[in-house]
Amino acid sequence: MAGNIKLVVCKDDAEVAKKAAVMFADVIKAKPSAVIGLATGSTPEKTYAEMAQLHRTQGLSFKQVMSFNLDEYWGLDGDHDQSYRYFMNDHLFQHVDIRPWNTFVLNGKATNPYLECQAYETKIVSVGGVDIWLLGIGGNGHIAFNEPGSAVDSRTRLVNLTPETIAANSDGRFFKSAAEVPRCALSAGIGTIREARSIVLLATGAKKADAVAAAVEGDFSTACPASLLQDHADCTFIVDEAAAGKLKNAR
Ligand code: GLP
Repeated sequence: MAGNIKLVVCKDDAEVAKKAAVMFADVIKAKPSAVIGLATGSTPEKTYAEMAQLHRTQGLSFKQVMSFNLDEYWGLDGDHDQSYRYFMNDHLFQHVDIRPWNTFVLNGKATNPYLECQAYETKIVSVGGVDIWLLGIGGNGHIAFNEPGSAVDSRTRLVNLTPETIAANSDGRFFKSAAEVPRCALSAGIGTIREARSIVLLATGAKKADAVAAAVEGDFSTACPASLLQDHADCTFIVDEAAAGKLKNAR
């Protein structure tokens, strides 16, 4: 399927981060009370540093912004240094003027995961939906923790992680060993993500080249969750040259 995905190829990860941060800044300037979706992982770290820089040097204000994060490890509380709540505080929230009570990260220690997921969906709807959602991509094409096989209309739920994802997150960047990685997570669904008015997916490095090619030029298929963004009305992939390396028609 020739999808609608807009592709921006940058020379390196620094340029990816700058472009992504500017896209978010433009949305926030146009609508100071924007609802933004955020992601974790190594890929967006530089983008968050750029957003913090725009806040410091150009007065980009997050005072009225509301944020929703894609996912959280099941069983970790927000103080755990590998939790996604901790990651967000560390990389973005404490560096900008966003109000802590306007930042929503699923609670990995919720008493009832089903109610937690339902409340998250309800909250997104009650604030009018997400204006722009930042995503990374797993080596197997996953988005958030929607592993291959996740349905196009899946909603926020408790999911199992694949051995591949557990290995990727215990390669020294995050957890020290696979044994420490939680086996489950709470994750926004593909249907939840697709409802965002605009989507920006970042990919850097040769390790993502197969997933990017499958997502952009492969079939619209649950085998590659990111390919399920092909029919979104406003979806941009910002990738570096290495991540674009397997595309046949890099535009
Ligand atoms: C994790 C996250 C995803 C992220 C992916 C890629 O599994 N749940 O949201 O996109 O990994 O991460 P990285 O950017 O570290 O390669």
